[in-house]
Amino acid sequence: MSGAALTFALLDLVAVALFIIGLHYLNAPPTARFGNRLAMLGMLVALVVVLVGSLNVGWWAIAVGMVVGAFIGIVAALRVKMTAMPQMVALYNGAGGGAAALVSTVELAVARSHGGALDPVVAVSLALSATIGAVSFAGSLVAFAKLQELMTGRPVTYAGQQLVNGIVAIAVALLLAFFVARLGIAPAWVYPGLVAAALLFGVLFVLPIGGADMPVVISLLNSATGVAVAIAGFELSSTLLITGGALVGASGTILTVAMSKAMNRPLTNVLFGAFGAAGGAEPAAGAKPQNVRSVSVDDVAAMLAYASKVMIVPGYGMAVAQAQHSVKALADQLEKRDVKVLYAIHPVAGRMPGHMNVLLAESNVPYEALLDLDDANAEFSTTDVALVIGANDVTNPAARTVKSSPIYGMPILDVDRAANVVVLKRSMRSGFAGIENPLYELANCSLLFGDAKASVDALVAAVKIL
Ligand code: TAP
Repeated sequence: MSGAALTFALLDLVAVALFIIGLHYLNAPPTARFGNRLAMLGMLVALVVVLVGSLNVGWWAIAVGMVVGAFIGIVAALRVKMTAMPQMVALYNGAGGGAAALVSTVELAVARSHGGALDPVVAVSLALSATIGAVSFAGSLVAFAKLQELMTGRPVTYAGQQLVNGIVAIAVALLLAFFVARLGIAPAWVYPGLVAAALLFGVLFVLPIGGADMPVVISLLNSATGVAVAIAGFELSSTLLITGGALVGASGTILTVAMSKAMNRPLTNVLFGAFGAAGGAEPAAGAKPQNVRSVSVDDVAAMLAYASKVMIVPGYGMAVAQAQHSVKALADQLEKRDVKVLYAIHPVAGRMPGHMNVLLAESNVPYEALLDLDDANAEFSTTDVALVIGANDVTNPAARTVKSSPIYGMPILDVDRAANVVVLKRSMRSGFAGIENPLYELANCSLLFGDAKASVDALVAAVKIL
């Protein structure tokens, strides 16, 4: 091995080590930022190695691509709202899958220009990364369209759907097998046919998934992109791509499993169960709560100020209202009065994994005050006030009792077991899953209507003068 090649190989190793150590630091919120920076440094090393090590490529094309890509990335990162992160992740993820499929297409064109059959390893990796990348690309675009409300966010179902999906999946498998068996010198239509069938499968596979299952499918597509990229690494003999892709694939799989568990839904159910809809029917949304009690800021302030234990239950509405700093200010006021304040964090509260943790960390809420689902549920029976701030689905008791409910079986935060529940929301609209919440009719529950930030600010002022 030449000196330069050895240096590049060592730098590859440094980049991979930085990715892995970076991921390790993402384990805990206090070290997550540092972990992110390490991984960014690893990415910089990887970029330099690839650019300097591939002097035979067209520099202009790369420079233009990098400038355009960096511009889009920076503008998007600065402008996108925290609540729109899942769409952004879906879009970037789709770009990764599409890139893997494009790499395979270019590699095939180069190999064909030299004539002859492909090496078997290259034939398998090329076909697999093109297929998985195309499925991930098309599926991610549909997920983006659903989350961005460019189309309905609900499951799109029709009679015979599983059969159609099964036939397309078989077509993909047959074309892939044919391409590999002929080592890439199959008739010219096979490769485009394979990519087209994979794209179609990506669309068809995500259409029936919707509602509260979307985060799970995005994470699954994310891991598929990682696998496609890792396999593309075999085509290009790139250890960086193989390890980087494998890390994304593995972490995406772990997240997918963790989220399915959090929803108490087997992954097969998420993929083939069409959340809350069958045969194109509307989800079983439940009856609109009739007898709800609305309370005033002063009543809630008194309830909170004279409580011994308050559990704050944040959700998507807190993120929309950007009420996290006001929530911390309220907790500070209550703690001054010796009220114990804890936070109950549901794993899918908000719109992305860790959404509530990130927001609360931003306003310096101590990590020890954040309780996960099980620990929080153990506290509700001794809680005086559960203050639900813009959370809905994650508090819906129908998940425990109503067998026909689409969220039946999903673990929820048992806020109804607290002595009093106060829900801050703007209207009687439902949450992400589009289903009604019978919590609001319970005798111990009352609603404080209004924007979460305005309501919490008013509560801070009212508690101060009590
Ligand atoms: P949701 O069930 O979506 O409920 C949010 C509530 O916030 C709504 O009831 C809404 O009622 C209220 N709200 C919205 N803006 C508000 C504002 N400015 N001020 C006050 N209230 C406001 O949220 P959740 O309980 O956090 O549950 C999350 C849902 O999203 C789950 O179904 C989950 O599966 C899904 N999901 C989660 C993720 C991840 S990974 N976290 C990703 C995608 C989807 P009003 O409109 O009446 O105010």
